[in-house]
Amino acid sequence: MIAEQILFSQGFGTRHECTGLIVQGRFRVNGTAVTDPDEDIPTEDLTFEVDGVQWPFFEKAIILLNKPEHYECSLKPIHHPSVLSLLPPPLRVRKVQPVGRLDEDTTGLLLLTDDGKLIHRLTHPKKHVTKIYRVTLKHPVTEKQIAQLLKGVQLADSPDIVKAVSCDKVSELVIDLGITQGKYHQVKRMMAAVSNRVVALERIRFGNLSLPEDLKPGEWTWGKSAQEIIG
Ligand code: URA
Repeated sequence: MIAEQILFSQGFGTRHECTGLIVQGRFRVNGTAVTDPDEDIPTEDLTFEVDGVQWPFFEKAIILLNKPEHYECSLKPIHHPSVLSLLPPPLRVRKVQPVGRLDEDTTGLLLLTDDGKLIHRLTHPKKHVTKIYRVTLKHPVTEKQIAQLLKGVQLADSPDIVKAVSCDKVSELVIDLGITQGKYHQVKRMMAAVSNRVVALERIRFGNLSLPEDLKPGEWTWGKSAQEIIG
């Protein structure tokens, strides 16, 4: 792929702006400035630099973000900043979007991508990708509640019956709940349906991906491939 196309595809601005970065010597490959916008550069396993910052080349971006509280997943947030404000400009220019949504007060693993097909695969209800939430509860969890969650509960104001695919008790007030759908406020409504209440919610797993332990709230890292998520 030619140098200008590489920068353009990775979100470094208009074609004109990308050409500018290159002729100004700000684009480097293997430590050497590439100053010809038409130079052909193999993209396999490519890492390049712009103004000294390293970027791996990915045809499609997959981003793992540890979402902090008080950020909205909406692209047009109302009360709080958007999660997109936690990402560097090239990723926003590439138009990465959250895969599903977490509530403003939910923390943890949020995937973002500019791959529309992947968003579809990961959010389509029939694909059954499991999401695991660490749920901190107001009242100690009971065996009866766990059994109800696994059997299926009816959500308030809705005909929907939803069931957990897993429910592991971590402590009296903490459970790890696995669900495959992504209905509005689903976990909070499931806990309300069994007469308990969520006081904190963190997504710790999405498909095969766990929230990386060293990823602090507000930090992000690159995902490698869809296979890594779906298996
Ligand atoms: N369930 C909820 O209630 N909220 C979330 O953010 C995610 C799942």
